[in-house]
Amino acid sequence: MKHQTLNINLETCLLKWFDTHHRDLPWRKTRHPYQIWVSEVMLQQTTVAAVIPFFSRFLTAFPTIQALAAADEQQVLKLWEGLGYYRRARHLHAAAKQLVADHAGKLPDDPDVWAELPGVGRYILGAVLSQAFDRRLPIVEANSLRVLARLFGYRGDPREGEGKAWVWTAAESVLPQKRAGDFNQALMELGALVCTPTNPACHQCPLAATCVANRDGLQATIPPPKKQPAITDVSEVGIVIRRGKRILLCRRPSNAGRWQNMWEVPHAERVIGEELMASVVRVAKEFTGLTVEPGREVLTIRHGVTRYRITLVCVEAESVKGRFKSKFYAEAKWLNVSELSDYPVSSPQRKLMTELADTNRLF
Ligand code: ADE
Repeated sequence: MKHQTLNINLETCLLKWFDTHHRDLPWRKTRHPYQIWVSEVMLQQTTVAAVIPFFSRFLTAFPTIQALAAADEQQVLKLWEGLGYYRRARHLHAAAKQLVADHAGKLPDDPDVWAELPGVGRYILGAVLSQAFDRRLPIVEANSLRVLARLFGYRGDPREGEGKAWVWTAAESVLPQKRAGDFNQALMELGALVCTPTNPACHQCPLAATCVANRDGLQATIPPPKKQPAITDVSEVGIVIRRGKRILLCRRPSNAGRWQNMWEVPHAERVIGEELMASVVRVAKEFTGLTVEPGREVLTIRHGVTRYRITLVCVEAESVKGRFKSKFYAEAKWLNVSELSDYPVSSPQRKLMTELADTNRLF
């Protein structure tokens, strides 16, 4: 494709549009690589609106890379609680430690150093180095992918196979010599505000005159819809094991598939045909070694994890015999309801704990 003359036009039109139309987002007020890095890690797979409060809380707690490197992992996870994809937080933390240990806490203008860090792939590397140092490095995420596919009229799937390689090459080919960071942000912003998945506002688009999808009326089919994985329904039981006023909170191991080192009340899949209260007794015994007497049903939480649609029925149960012993959990604590908010837990578990705190207040 001939990009040379097209580019000068693209660059001028898009940057001009960005300068007047961009949203005033907190991470756009800084060129500091640490702050930009934190924002970009949070923004992967999460919306701008959801990220804003987390971003400022995180930077208040860890204003520097040294502060983050020195933090306890539990503190990092607690500040990430609710954002999801907790592996990103653990990687960010590990990478901060690595930069402090091996590079005196400097965040250098050097792609080779960044490429070695845990959790840093091509997107984070391009996003941080282009915005912080104006390095001419491309980025591709959901919004810019859509803009590029439409702009060039790419009819394949830019998320798969050769389409992936195509979209990165396209992102690189349109980058200007200067203001690469702003240009990358402008592509994302155009995707978020104008070149939206459905009903794009082409009449407001600064690139409408050069856009192939606009010319050919292909906005609805470019890019093709994301392939959705088949959804599997799962029934789980969660158990609020009580000993008098205290509740058993367990820490998942550091090799658990998800929610590593986060806390929870024990929960597990129900066996087909097993009666609810029988599953409470079985799961409690299997995961905590305790013999319990099931009590009231607290609430049912429906949530999704990757391709699973989970229905989690939460039941209270009194521990009547035994001591905590588990082949799965790394440790456990007997806590008052008021202490549950101190520990990092997943969103469905937080929902349960908020309910427990609310009912606790009523009695
Ligand atoms: N999505 C990913 N990075 C972003 C950024 N810097 N601004 C807005 N949305 C984004």
